[in-house]
Amino acid sequence: MSDRYGDSTRAVKAVSSQPIPGDPVGPGPVLASAFHLSDDEGSEANTYGRGSNPTWSQLESALAQLEGATTALTFGSGMAAITAALRVTAKPGSVLVVPADGYYQVRRYAAESLVPLGITVRGVTAEQIYRAAEDADVVLAETPTNPALDVVDLHRLAQICHARGARLLVDNTTATPLGQQPLSLGADLVVASATKALSGHSDVLAGYAAGSHPELMAALERERLLAGAVLGSFEAWLVLRSLGSLGLRFERQCQNALALATAVARHPKVGSVRYPGLPDDPSHPSAVAQMKRFGGLVSLELADAAAVHALVRHSELLVASTSFGGIHTSVDRRARWGDPVPDGFARISAGIEDTDDLVADVLSALDA
Ligand SMILES: Cc1ncc(COP(=O)(O)O)c(C=O)c1O
Repeated sequence: MSDRYGDSTRAVKAVSSQPIPGDPVGPGPVLASAFHLSDDEGSEANTYGRGSNPTWSQLESALAQLEGATTALTFGSGMAAITAALRVTAKPGSVLVVPADGYYQVRRYAAESLVPLGITVRGVTAEQIYRAAEDADVVLAETPTNPALDVVDLHRLAQICHARGARLLVDNTTATPLGQQPLSLGADLVVASATKALSGHSDVLAGYAAGSHPELMAALERERLLAGAVLGSFEAWLVLRSLGSLGLRFERQCQNALALATAVARHPKVGSVRYPGLPDDPSHPSAVAQMKRFGGLVSLELADAAAVHALVRHSELLVASTSFGGIHTSVDRRARWGDPVPDGFARISAGIEDTDDLVADVLSALDA
């Protein structure tokens, strides 16, 4: 797609249908498990719903455009996309590096399902990942990490991986393709949850992988067909419908996140704040170098678990929820899920409320 367009224009164009007179401007979902077959028995497109579906194809084309990939493949959830990518790239005998400070269910999957297959799994932090990549076959990076929001320098990591022929997979969930383009920084494959900002309304689970290596994408498509972790076509349509407004929503989320991070950093009840967009954040230099926007997540540390619950209770706008990227500003106490963070560590996902309302509400909830 043309570089002259801004990101909201790109998002709208990515979900636009062909201008065929009489056809809907916003096509609905194609709900089908089986399609009429042609006499051409070699033709594989749209025969059975586990292999392909026209609504997936529309969504995949939009995702590929936004990620700067030749191909995108949708999956039933972010985990379905990530685990399929790990199964395809890591084989018995491989050394696989996964984030120790990223989304916890990924390292749990690696430990429970990949180690017994004879794959050596090394869990490392964002700081340790460059050294670990020096003797790995497959590296999965997450940046900014969920929940601490450390940034991995993807250009540097890609150089290390490619010098030894290792594959670099990047989880782009927290940044979104409007925040960062891992493929252009050297990643071999993007994997992500579309359950978060891409769909943005906390009403659907979805995931995708995007890349430009034909063999890798073909292997992933085959894995999806055989393992069957597919996205329902109605769910694909929900994501497609939301994607057109991603530019607007994400812009506001980033703006709200920066305003919240700046405001709470000065509050006496807040111990520390992490947001890659804050000029004094340790990740700011790498974030500036590779991110176009710094995302909608802010992490902060309060005194204890009770202080996090009190923050939500005293607020009129915050909701307690463990997902992120939705239109509502939400708070999640990450120690609840076993993340290696202090009890009072809260991850805030900025929604699309008016910035002044949100900042005033959070400050008054902290004061209460
Ligand atoms: C960074 C990251 N990657 C992947 C996932 C998994 O996505 P899903 O819940 O859609 O399977 C999550 C879920 O929170 C996540 O935070």
